[in-house]
Amino acid sequence: MTSIVVTGGSGKAGRAVVAEFAQHGYDVVNVDVAASRDPDSPTVVADLTDLGQVYDVLHGADAVVHLAAIPAPNVLPDGETFRINTTSAYNVFAASTKLGLSKVVWASSETLIGIPFEREQPRYAPIDEEHPRLPEFHYALSKLAGEVMADQFARWSGTPFVSLRYSNVMEPHDYNRFPSFWDDPTVRAWNLWGYVDARDVAQATRLALEAETTGHEAFLVAAADTCMKQTSSELMAKVFPDVELRDGVAGHETLLSISKARGLLGYDPRFSWRDHLPT
Ligand SMILES: NC(=O)c1ccc[n+]([C@@H]2O[C@H](COP(=O)([O-])OP(=O)(O)OC[C@H]3O[C@@H](n4cnc5c(N)ncnc54)[C@H](O)[C@@H]3O)[C@@H](O)[C@H]2O)c1
Repeated sequence: MTSIVVTGGSGKAGRAVVAEFAQHGYDVVNVDVAASRDPDSPTVVADLTDLGQVYDVLHGADAVVHLAAIPAPNVLPDGETFRINTTSAYNVFAASTKLGLSKVVWASSETLIGIPFEREQPRYAPIDEEHPRLPEFHYALSKLAGEVMADQFARWSGTPFVSLRYSNVMEPHDYNRFPSFWDDPTVRAWNLWGYVDARDVAQATRLALEAETTGHEAFLVAAADTCMKQTSSELMAKVFPDVELRDGVAGHETLLSISKARGLLGYDPRFSWRDHLPT
């Protein structure tokens, strides 16, 4: 497998993913509605809500990494976010299976696990892939709809699908904001103090494409630690005292479990804010 289409390759996660595949010898094509600012990563400009354009850009590719989306709530009106994300996912999934691509890896989101945990608390922590999917807003609902579509496309086509539930993606300059999180543990409780470095997103995404998976698999993708200085058990005791904290959470270990990604993909996050800021 050498020819990969990365959708959304002009964006935050996409830039790192395009670089990762290029560094590992893949022939990468970035498809995005916005041209990349990187002259080494030329863009095929296409709108993925248009099925014809999607067939055209995927024709001849071996596999697709679908990252293009409206990546958060409150960027566009809710209905537009839902329409763009679900229509793009449908179009990419439908065209990939009909064109016979060997694999579909796409960006789901941590948000579908119940973020921001205001109306309902986590059922347990660390949260893993068995935790119920409880989207609380339209963006998260668009990701759940994508995972449901992935279940069905994988079942009837035989094409392997991987949904990657990225945590909050950070580039190195974003770590400068982390000190503002530390005094009040409630500030980042909305995603159990999770984050993931864009370069680790890229690693997980490449590994997901290379792994021999079948059907539809979903993985949480987070850093190995939280964004906080307090230990993970201290944070849970302070903000979610009634939530079951399962055994084995040591020190600052992530409360968004990456055990499945470690075990099945060989994911091993290499980047932490602790290497950028004094602790
Ligand atoms: N950033 C995060 O913290 C985070 C967390 C979890 C999941 N995700 C998911 O990861 C993916 C990438 O997120 P990001 O932070 O890099 O977002 P981003 O906004 O930086 O990049 C998304 C890219 O998709 C493109 N795009 C949007 N609509 C398009 C369309 N109709 N056709 C073609 N291209 C289109 C945009 O131009 C942009 O370059 C998204 O699917 C997002 O939902 C992001």
